Amino acid sequence: MSKKLWGGRFKKETDKEFFVFQKSIQYDFKLAAYDILHSLVHVNALKHAGLLSAAEKNKLHSALMGIAAEIKNGKFKPDLHTEDIHTQIQNKVQAKLGNLALKLHTLRSRNDQVVFDEKHYCGVEALGLACLLGSVIKALESLGHKYKDVYIAGYTHTQRAQKVKFCDYLGGLIKSFESDKKKLGAYAAGLIAYVGSGAFKGTSLAKDYQSAITAEIKKLTPVTIKVADSPVANVSDRDFIVEFLSIISVIQMHLSRLAEDFILYSTKEFNYLDLPEEFCTGSSLMPHKKNPDFLELARGYTGKIYGNLVSILTTMKGLPLTYNRDMQLDKEPLFSSVEILGDELRILAKFIAGVKLNRAAIDKALEDDSLYAVDLAEYLVREKKVAFSDAHDIVGKLIRYCEDNGCSIKDISITALKKLSTHLDKKAIGRILGR
Ligand code: ARG
Repeated sequence: MSKKLWGGRFKKETDKEFFVFQKSIQYDFKLAAYDILHSLVHVNALKHAGLLSAAEKNKLHSALMGIAAEIKNGKFKPDLHTEDIHTQIQNKVQAKLGNLALKLHTLRSRNDQVVFDEKHYCGVEALGLACLLGSVIKALESLGHKYKDVYIAGYTHTQRAQKVKFCDYLGGLIKSFESDKKKLGAYAAGLIAYVGSGAFKGTSLAKDYQSAITAEIKKLTPVTIKVADSPVANVSDRDFIVEFLSIISVIQMHLSRLAEDFILYSTKEFNYLDLPEEFCTGSSLMPHKKNPDFLELARGYTGKIYGNLVSILTTMKGLPLTYNRDMQLDKEPLFSSVEILGDELRILAKFIAGVKLNRAAIDKALEDDSLYAVDLAEYLVREKKVAFSDAHDIVGKLIRYCEDNGCSIKDISITALKKLSTHLDKKAIGRILGR
């Protein structure tokens, strides 16, 4: 066990098994860079309050920036004998500077640090995910553009409904992702990471923190930093994680619908899409199989991502204000959802670029007369001034007649047609059906 940030009042050593049970370093290590940022602001505040000399401040700053450089180039590794990232950074500063490092934690609490770190993580990751969504949108747009003149059978209830342009179908997916992207941007822009909360009731440093948030500090992050107006609310708050995981869940829901459509359209039964082989796998038994595993996993991860949202909601339910150790369990679901979605979006953009349309099967499906039923009804309304309900009824009876007699609309006899309605004529039908 490495040196802890507490312990003076304890007579007994921490039980080894309990130590492993309670430590968070194995996952909160991801917050290292944001924890350094907190320390930089804090050191500024201590200097302003006269609790550090200028020389001490500079030494602490350069030690912290040295660790930041190690984080950036991957040299800073988690010390799994440490309780958490806040402790590991403090210990590292101590290894560099000796006892001066002991002043770093003056009037500060990890309760304040952890929420600050997580807000920055959420802001940076939200912008990253928005960017990845941008690549998926671009890939969908170029797929639509490549096949801009292609019509496919459109579906409601997974039953053939009306002929629709393939790019208009893709437009539906694009719209959802555009709205998701906007939500992520607004979410990141609205985040405020507070400093100066202490354990929960603020500290005597509060006014010094104001001048600690310098232009240099602001340059290091896209997230707004302010002095907490309600320290109690700040250390108690995990709403921003619930919100982030909610946005991610909606994106995941959109992804799962895309996945389902593409899986369906790639079956032999539909055969509209040819999926890129490099994102499919085969079967160990059936030599002919090309399975859409990427799409299936992307659909399957919905369970995990919704589960992560429910996990944080449940952890927070009924928690007394302010900080409670339960809240440490917010990190794994947060990191898990961000990482899964990031992987999915990165792969999806490449996947979409490799999708090809199978024109023969698509055109064959378009020969289904029922796809033009609405066009026929509209023709009766527009050209023959028939009321829509009557037009609906006439076309419905026409479809029924063809089904009962095993013929297609265009092959129906003139006598049968006139019996159904005097408004219908073969020429108009031929024109509307495009044959
Ligand atoms: N590892 C803790 C967490 O993630 C950091 C805060 C610990 N605070 C405390 N008072 N023990 O929530």
